Amino acid sequence: MPITGHLSVTLPRVQQAKVLVASNRGPVAFRLGDDGALRMSRGGGGLVSGVSAAANDGAAVWVCAALGYADRMAADAAPGGRLDRAGHDTGGASVRMLPIDERTFEDAYNAIANATLWYVNHTLFDTPRAPSFDAQWSRYWQAYVDYNTAFADALAEEAADNAQVLVQDYHLMLTPALLRERRPDLRIGHFTHTPWAEPSYFSMLPDDVGRAVLAGMLGADTVGFLSPRWAEAFVLCCVRLLGADAGGTSIHRGGRSTRVNVHALGVDAEELRTRAAQPDVAVRREALRRRIGDSRAIVRVDRTELSKNIVRGLNAYRELLRVHPEHRGKVVHVVFAYPSRHDLPDYRAYTAEVQRVAREIEDEFATSDWNPLLLEVNDDYPRSLAALELAEVLVVNPLRDGMNLVAKEGPVLSADGVAVVLSREAGAADELGPDTLLVNPYDVSATAEAMHAALSMPAAERRERTARLAAAATALPPRQWLRAQLDEL
Ligand code: G6P
Repeated sequence: MPITGHLSVTLPRVQQAKVLVASNRGPVAFRLGDDGALRMSRGGGGLVSGVSAAANDGAAVWVCAALGYADRMAADAAPGGRLDRAGHDTGGASVRMLPIDERTFEDAYNAIANATLWYVNHTLFDTPRAPSFDAQWSRYWQAYVDYNTAFADALAEEAADNAQVLVQDYHLMLTPALLRERRPDLRIGHFTHTPWAEPSYFSMLPDDVGRAVLAGMLGADTVGFLSPRWAEAFVLCCVRLLGADAGGTSIHRGGRSTRVNVHALGVDAEELRTRAAQPDVAVRREALRRRIGDSRAIVRVDRTELSKNIVRGLNAYRELLRVHPEHRGKVVHVVFAYPSRHDLPDYRAYTAEVQRVAREIEDEFATSDWNPLLLEVNDDYPRSLAALELAEVLVVNPLRDGMNLVAKEGPVLSADGVAVVLSREAGAADELGPDTLLVNPYDVSATAEAMHAALSMPAAERRERTARLAAAATALPPRQWLRAQLDEL
């Protein structure tokens, strides 16, 4: 049939995705080998397995940022930034990596996402000194706006008509509204993996910025949180700072509604146990056993983030050994504190403090045949799994934490039951609380007493509690967690 007249057709979005995920860190990372060639590694974790499952039918695209020089090289070299189209094995998911320029990325990621928004929602500012919102900070904020805009542009381009888009975390709080402006047809969800601050703390942000963050998120059809506590705080912020109406589980503003949901992310027991059954974990378990000897293991495993409260945890252990000398020579505190965000000076200083307090404890208590503490600050995932298997006591005492998956992994991996000392300020306390020893994370003496109570718990009770904790921890594994969000959209 001849085509006549003015041709105005909208091309079908054939190659476009029906499901999209957006997050700062993607499922793959690149580094340059000694030969100058790009080497790719695939990350693990809940989001990766959940999205890979959703992506199995090939209809999903994961949009992420290039985090460093090698990532940027790979993204620049891939057609349209699509790594899968450049022949990289991205494990089932189609990945679009955004080669955002280095300056913009660093300012958005370090100064705004990590040093401002993450601090606000963990209520961690040392307020006599920080924050201080000056002209330099406003330039960083502009970088965050540009970074979020780059995500909105890429998502708008990749999404099929009426596609579902799941935007992740505090790096991308403006993206939902920016994306809605570009593509009103899309179903957009946002999920926050951190806590959320009460309005009085949140309003420390410059007024226009606080409102932009909330309005950015309300561009979504649904916003998700890990705990009802964080969801309630978010709703209160919207009411107080934006004058929004909140009714039932929705927030209404400007003729639109956003549903507020809680999805308490859990762990995948089978995946975790299968990983822990690998030989590299067995080798590390034996090595740890040799180092610990017959002592009972009090274990903690954290990324060294300021919220993890490692220093107070060490001080609590010191107090335990002082107040209850009967434990000396019979316990070892295994402390794995992995590096995190070493671009931020506060984080480097914190790691140094952890090491200093650990040395003090060794100096005070070590004997010729007993070392009270085993501290490692290098990342070793299989070694962490091995330690969680051996733990008789697990200490998870964050000042504030969106969820804390270590508290959930411990009971699932435990070989012989584990007594969990858990901060009441972790999202995980919602589900695990009754079978843990809950503590106020600021109360060092109470934490020491909780460690003592954990060591004194009869083995049968410890095992029974562990079975219940493992059941609660696995109630919503990553795949179902992701599925639940898609269903809501
Ligand atoms: C912390 C936050 C998480 C976030 C993660 C990102 O753990 O609590 O919500 O996803 O950092 O870490 P990254 O290494 O990518 O900055």
